[in-house]
Amino acid sequence: MRRGAGTDIASDSDEKATQQEFVRSGEQVVCAESAVKEVAENAGLDGIPARAGVGFDLAFYQDIIDHRPAVGWFEILAEDYMEAGGLPHHKLRKIREHYPLSVYGVGMSIGSHGPLDKAHLLRLKTLCDRYQPGLVSEHLGWSGLGGMYLNELLPLPYNDRTLEHVCAHIDEIQTCLGRSILVENPSTFGTFLSSDKSEVEFLSAVVQITGCGLLLDVNNVYVSAVNSGLSADGYIDSFPMTHVEEIHLGARPLGRNEVPDSFEVSHARDVAEIVWQIYRRALSRAGAKPTLIEWSNDVPAWSVVAEEAHQVDLLLELTEKNDDRSA
Ligand SMILES: [Fe+2]
Repeated sequence: MRRGAGTDIASDSDEKATQQEFVRSGEQVVCAESAVKEVAENAGLDGIPARAGVGFDLAFYQDIIDHRPAVGWFEILAEDYMEAGGLPHHKLRKIREHYPLSVYGVGMSIGSHGPLDKAHLLRLKTLCDRYQPGLVSEHLGWSGLGGMYLNELLPLPYNDRTLEHVCAHIDEIQTCLGRSILVENPSTFGTFLSSDKSEVEFLSAVVQITGCGLLLDVNNVYVSAVNSGLSADGYIDSFPMTHVEEIHLGARPLGRNEVPDSFEVSHARDVAEIVWQIYRRALSRAGAKPTLIEWSNDVPAWSVVAEEAHQVDLLLELTEKNDDRSA
């Protein structure tokens, strides 16, 4: 799981401030009135601009607060912030005062055959109510069944039966949150015999049925293409770009046991040139879109991430200029 909030040692004043702001009420965390007002006052920071964003890691906090870098927005992993209080929330609230925020979840298991975890959904709603993110996204996959949970995001077959389940789950999430969400293309390890649709056809149908948007993860496109033997360019060329509201630009996929023709997902290294190429191709079709520099493991120094964000901003600027010229 990426972008761990981890543990940290709060100062007494930090803890007191946090405790005063939030109270627990059964399973749900209720946002205190002062915090709601504070977020509301930041309404001008709610939209996610078509710029580079960075996955917020607590290790970046001091650099961000001290220097207020020109980063367009930050993204958090929803599951890292589902507890009521503590230093992670205290720091995130400070970040939110100055930057737009996006929330990315991996725990709803929208591809499961069974019902959604209602308590988890309520925790996600509480988090969204608390921080008013500009975008909320979930991964297309499943990670639990019958009350058991796996620390994996698993792919699913693409057919009418799974389409029905996925759309019902997205409907339920969107109704609960009172907003539309984005669904992210997963990384897969091959194709299922029971699939009768391509992933692009499946996601296009999901968008048409639920009205959700899409999060295009170009690293996942590359990993899936390598594992399935399909063309990453073909995937990008057929993807319904008009519904893409965010792009994930992940780190370089690691070779599994250094075997060059089989890859697993990792976001633990810098962005590989091949992934940059796929990203540029996506921009040429989609136009400039909010793009997350996605790190999860071995998170580097802030200066490294900031430089990568700068490179993405330059590309997005160029894309916008080219679009203006051809308009
Ligand atoms: Fe991603």
